[in-house]
Amino acid sequence: MRHPLPRSWYTSPDHFAREMCEVFGRAWLPVCHGSDIAGPGSYLTLTAGGEEIFLVHDRSGEIRGFHNACQHRAHRLLDGAGTLKAAITCPYHAWAYGLDGSLRAAPRMGAIKGFNPAQYPLRPVRTASFAGFVMICHDDDAPEASAGLRDIEKHLLVDHPDLPQLHAIRRRDAVMGANWKTIIENYLECYHCDVAHPSFGEFDLSTWKHIAGPAWSRQGRVPAARHNQAASHGTIEGLSAWWQWPNIFWARAFDEKSFVVAYHEPLAANATRQVRVVYALDDEEDDTALRDFNELFDEVFQEDVSVVESVQRGLSSRGYRGGALIEDDDASAGWSEHVVGDFQTMVRSALEGTAS
Ligand code: FES
Ligand SMILES: [Fe+2]
Repeated sequence: MRHPLPRSWYTSPDHFAREMCEVFGRAWLPVCHGSDIAGPGSYLTLTAGGEEIFLVHDRSGEIRGFHNACQHRAHRLLDGAGTLKAAITCPYHAWAYGLDGSLRAAPRMGAIKGFNPAQYPLRPVRTASFAGFVMICHDDDAPEASAGLRDIEKHLLVDHPDLPQLHAIRRRDAVMGANWKTIIENYLECYHCDVAHPSFGEFDLSTWKHIAGPAWSRQGRVPAARHNQAASHGTIEGLSAWWQWPNIFWARAFDEKSFVVAYHEPLAANATRQVRVVYALDDEEDDTALRDFNELFDEVFQEDVSVVESVQRGLSSRGYRGGALIEDDDASAGWSEHVVGDFQTMVRSALEGTAS
């Protein structure tokens, strides 16, 4: 029997700082779709892994990432999103950088003896493409092609070959009063689905399956006729939801044409920003099935917000001692909390050897 993580891991600012370093400072984090920065010169600012960064599409078509801090006296370089005409010019004293991050000019720099612009490039952030999305990583040594990452990329593309062609048609941005792990754990079990989700209506847990892979999982409904077979990638139909380590949800809509992606950025031990984006092809924006799906998803997410914020308050209570995970022998049973246990094992491993 496995037990949940200690409650201090959800409430302590010191522990939060440790996870930002050891989890979010090391993992590859999907942050946007390639279409969000399509075209040379386009840029996008965001916070990922606790760092303010920006992505820019350079003239050669490459997506580059940089910390959003000027090397002179640290002013933020860019805000929001847009298109750069030429250089990235700091709004404070006008140091100007090329799209490759090199310092091109600084007002009056010729008057300073020994000033060498080559010594002040912007600090880069690693980027990689992932099923049409852009990932970033703050760890210079993290492998880009780990088995888990390429595995889930392959499955997502089998599930939805149009993924690289989609674009964002709807965004919802919310700060949830819960630790990031509380939110992920809630997503990783359907033990609560027929209790806490009135919006699901009559929910038949017996047809729900949850398949775990290395650093990802997938859950959804398996048709009754095939339910006794071992669940595998291809047996889930209709609504299908994925989790990717550490903080991403992917969900394919009922119509199997659009995707919802929820990005989670931890803000504090008890606060997490969720950016939820619906991606679809151009001609699907007015689709009725898609509108219905969005409405249902809004309701489901609202129910989940209420659950995770309540759990977070309970985790702050000295009266909470920690229970046990309810895991079925069938590792793919939809109601089982086995993937919660696997996720918690991953968190423990990420922190292994670091001071507690
Ligand atoms: S801080 Fe950017 S130019 Fe001075
Ligand atoms: Fe839920």
